[in-house]
Amino acid sequence: MSNQARQTQSHIYIHGLSGKKPSIPFHFEELERLAQNQLSAEAFAYVAGGAGREDTELRNREAFRQYHILPKMLHGKVEADLSIELFGDTYQHPFFLAPIGVLDMAYPKGDQLTARAAAATETPMIFSNQASAPMEECAREMGNHPRWFQLYWSQSDELVQSLVQRAEKTGAKAIVVTLDTTQLGWRPRDLKLAYLPFLRGMGIAQYTSDPVFQKMLDEGAGKALANAPQPRFNLTTLRNALAQKRNYPGSFWSNLFSDRATRAVRLFINIYARPDLSWEDLPKLRSYTSLPIVLKGIMHEDDAQKAKDLGMDGIIVSNHGGRQVDGAAAALTALPRITQRVGRDFPVMMDSGIRSGTDAMKALALGAKAVCIGRPYVYALGIGGQSGVEDLIRYYRAELELNMSLSSVRAVSDLDPHIFEPS
Ligand code: FNR
Repeated sequence: MSNQARQTQSHIYIHGLSGKKPSIPFHFEELERLAQNQLSAEAFAYVAGGAGREDTELRNREAFRQYHILPKMLHGKVEADLSIELFGDTYQHPFFLAPIGVLDMAYPKGDQLTARAAAATETPMIFSNQASAPMEECAREMGNHPRWFQLYWSQSDELVQSLVQRAEKTGAKAIVVTLDTTQLGWRPRDLKLAYLPFLRGMGIAQYTSDPVFQKMLDEGAGKALANAPQPRFNLTTLRNALAQKRNYPGSFWSNLFSDRATRAVRLFINIYARPDLSWEDLPKLRSYTSLPIVLKGIMHEDDAQKAKDLGMDGIIVSNHGGRQVDGAAAALTALPRITQRVGRDFPVMMDSGIRSGTDAMKALALGAKAVCIGRPYVYALGIGGQSGVEDLIRYYRAELELNMSLSSVRAVSDLDPHIFEPS
């Protein structure tokens, strides 16, 4: 057993002698239940919710149960080596934090606290394009620890270029382009509450901190269109208008007497999505940045092949946690088809349904080079703030390490489908 796993385990048992219990639950279902008690109804719906009947969200998780490990005994080595290499950098373990927008819905200053937790656990954080704190602020929280930036390709190529170049300047090691959300999926939980955080000015800090976006506002963009639907005016409308002003950079009082915060929200709504984005647009990104480009949201092996043929540097197999196309296949079941098609030398990562260290082990064995944790860390953040996220990562990491050691797998690079019972 390696030191890291042993330390995590003994820390818990030893503190148990004084009656101290772990800060967050180990099982996902319990974690989710506890988070539901902590989060507002709107925040919980936004995080937990999926598209449609949420079949895909459930399928993502169930897919892991279909793979059964056949542990081998007595490999004669104490430590399992969790380190991985991606794009020339070495990472201490194969967990990344998935890009998640509007983390301050789960906990005040959620982006900054997650960035600190990521740094403390040597976990690369993928900054979301929909964060509530600018990437520069989160980068400052992380010092030299690794981070990537996730991009939503907006209507303005100039804005895309600016975001990517800011990411490069703040030390991001790769650009992740999310392809599966060129429009928002049909999400009944949010629709039922008629709640979208962006309309309150939350989750748009990468835009409002951007010089190109600010230039558009200077030029008068974001005015109400004559035929656009308007909410009826009442106390709730007023409260939400004030929220827009509070969430906009600068002092609340100077924002109060300006229409800039409201125009920023309108401008964001007008430009954030690029439904007609096509494969031909992607090479343009190469002229904006020299960083590795990773496409997120790939489910079909033909798309994986296209990414490779276009010279992209890697992909993340993901269905956005079942938030976009309900009825879509589980990300885990798409993974082996994809790795088979593109070969093990092409970097493939995976998310959507990772709920434990064991899940990570299975995804890595099916060809993922690394996995991203999504909802579980948002719940841990909601329950325990920064230390909740740190604990969750330590638990996942310890379980992965233990399971590998107990199955005689010496290193992540040794994981392959031979660890499974033949079907
Ligand atoms: C997301 N995800 C996401 N993806 C992305 O590329 N940019 C984003 O801003 C967001 N925002 C976001 C918000 C919330 C509340 C959730 C739950 C998810 C998708 C995310 O990166 C990842 O693909 C999924 O979370 C993986 O699914 P599970 O494992 O969380 O179910």
